[in-house]
Amino acid sequence: MSFDLVFFGGTGDLTWRKLMPSLFQAWRHGKLPRDGRILAVARDGIDDQGYRQWLQERLQEADSAKRPSQEEFNQFSAQIHYLRMDLSIAADYLKLKDWLTQRQADTTVMYLATSPHLFPIICQQLGACGLNHDKVRVVLEKPLGHDLASAQEINRAVSAVFCEKQALRIDHYLGKPSVQNLMALRFGNVLFEPLWRRESIANIQITLAESLGVGTRGDFYNRTGALRDMIQNHALQLLTMVAMEPPSSADADAIRDEKLKVLKSLKPFDANSVARDVVRGQYRSGMINGQPVKGYLEEDKVAPDSHTETFVALRCEVQNWRWAGVPFYLRTGKRMAHRHAEIVVNFRPTPHQIFPGAHTPNKLVIKLQPDDGLELHLLAAKGTVSSVLTGSGHESLSPVSLDLDFDKAFPTDRVGAYERMLLDALAGRLNLFVRSDEQEQAWRWVEPMLEAWSQDAQSLRPYAAGTWGPPAASALVARDGFAWAEEI
Ligand code: BG6
Repeated sequence: MSFDLVFFGGTGDLTWRKLMPSLFQAWRHGKLPRDGRILAVARDGIDDQGYRQWLQERLQEADSAKRPSQEEFNQFSAQIHYLRMDLSIAADYLKLKDWLTQRQADTTVMYLATSPHLFPIICQQLGACGLNHDKVRVVLEKPLGHDLASAQEINRAVSAVFCEKQALRIDHYLGKPSVQNLMALRFGNVLFEPLWRRESIANIQITLAESLGVGTRGDFYNRTGALRDMIQNHALQLLTMVAMEPPSSADADAIRDEKLKVLKSLKPFDANSVARDVVRGQYRSGMINGQPVKGYLEEDKVAPDSHTETFVALRCEVQNWRWAGVPFYLRTGKRMAHRHAEIVVNFRPTPHQIFPGAHTPNKLVIKLQPDDGLELHLLAAKGTVSSVLTGSGHESLSPVSLDLDFDKAFPTDRVGAYERMLLDALAGRLNLFVRSDEQEQAWRWVEPMLEAWSQDAQSLRPYAAGTWGPPAASALVARDGFAWAEEI
């Protein structure tokens, strides 16, 4: 398959931090067709060689195992080209068209790794010069808008030029191997599905914790905040994967229809429930890995009186027969104790207890990062002399876990999230991309929180960097008689 992959925002952070390193991994894994061309588009006045040199310097920042050798870079970068464009000038799109029509690739993917306010103009201009024919797909990076109205506006502008099947909204969390395994676990095995419901499950927790702060992205982050940056998209997408009904097939729309139903079943927030069930926080200075780090208000390009949240924890419910009454707790934050993302399914205790002692109920932990894998926490009799020869003759139970480490189970060819999403975009596999109606429904659901916070500066709670967020986040879960996984 021949392809042309165009990165708008070719010198931007996302391109050199995530997209190019992932493409390089795809190349190294032999998955990137060698007759494909990659075109970076930006305003800088450089040529192919200048861009390649710039990129090579950036790729040196990758982990050593992922860094290209000189020989690898020479081969990989032979596929990379550069075109200077001003995205607001129509004539520059004709230059792009000329470049693309030097040959007729089987597939052309336009990856919009720019600020979302440019999406409408880029799409209009691509349409105006006929670069929206059926061999073209467009990938839209998040954030797609900053509220429902702006998301709808972007979707309208995109859909005036590209049909839904050509517009791929990316949420790279859906490309993480553990999320794929969640689908496999639920719908490729009989074991869990009968238990995957309110009768057996007490609560579900989704934690996306980062130890990094906002780094050089202070101005973007300060306009965005944790709710828009992580909850509206990544956390809600994970929730849909956990809570959805079994789809009738693995087709993209069969899956996306079920995910949309979950989003529509989420109990809507109002001002009262936002005050009661949502905690927002902002980090102060603290220690991460033994090193002092500054507080959010001291970060570059952040206003010293900013009310932007860097942490959100919330309690929500999926209102349907399967999940009625089961709390779902979502939590995300910057500068938390560790980089740690997981989904924890806490099962109910046994209905009748015959073994002595207090027992932790079963739980299933789907680990997303830093390592990916599955842990099933069970109780077992140890059968050791000391455990058997005590008390009433009934042995007390001890926790054990069945631990499936995917890196060990499948040691070769593990595909990273962006690598997978890029390869899917080139191949036209839509399963992992978010449909416009899902994305708009997610905005609809978070809007009451944005609205309530815009009226109330008081509810922002400070937390020290290097902790698990404000104490109110623990109280939110404790109120239902539960605790976050790390508190047990
Ligand atoms: C991005 C957010 O979507 O996801 C960032 O904009 C965040 O703020 C990042 O750091 C986290 O992704 P990952 O894959 O590193 O957990």
